[in-house]
Amino acid sequence: MDDALSEAFYQARVEDVAARVKPKRFEHIQGVAQTAESLARIYGVDPARARLAGLLHDWDKGMRDGEIIQRAHDLGVDAQVGEWVVENMPEVLHGPTAAAALGRAFPQIPADVLEAIRCHTTASTTMTDLSKIIYVADTLEPSRTFGEADGLRALIGVVPLDELFYRVYKFWTMALIEHDTVLHPDTIKIWNTIAKGKSRAKKEKYA
Ligand SMILES: [Fe+2]
Ligand SMILES: [Fe+2]
Repeated sequence: MDDALSEAFYQARVEDVAARVKPKRFEHIQGVAQTAESLARIYGVDPARARLAGLLHDWDKGMRDGEIIQRAHDLGVDAQVGEWVVENMPEVLHGPTAAAALGRAFPQIPADVLEAIRCHTTASTTMTDLSKIIYVADTLEPSRTFGEADGLRALIGVVPLDELFYRVYKFWTMALIEHDTVLHPDTIKIWNTIAKGKSRAKKEKYA
């Protein structure tokens, strides 16, 4: 069995991914892999794991809503994420389905790489540094051109990884509310987990 962190495994998966998604998406994916690798070097995470998770994070992104919902049912992801999410937020399913499918197809992929892929769409309350890096890289890779991107990119290497993740997560949460979009049921839990630490630090500062 190929070592999942070897160059040969990586290059074989590059070919797989190129065949699964459109060219524009492939450009995004390559940007995420490169950005994740560089964030990993800056923040002390294994660059090979970051590059692989970046390459594979949108493994199922080329599927339409009907297809991804069916795939979530076929892979048992519906039991993991809940039927409400399957029905109301099909756009978040490609993280969990990719992790489940890749884990079956390539059992040698490390568990933390699969977990980073799984939670890249919704985040979670128990993210590792690797998961935070993939989440951030997905938003800040070079082909993303939204207004706040450069301001967020300027924080890389300047603020700790937790703060960088928080700023990117806050950007997305506010953007979703701004666009009247449904929120994942875990969003309030994730927000409160981060905000609890922030408000405690503020209280201590002004005590
Ligand atoms: Fe994605
Ligand atoms: Fe992505």
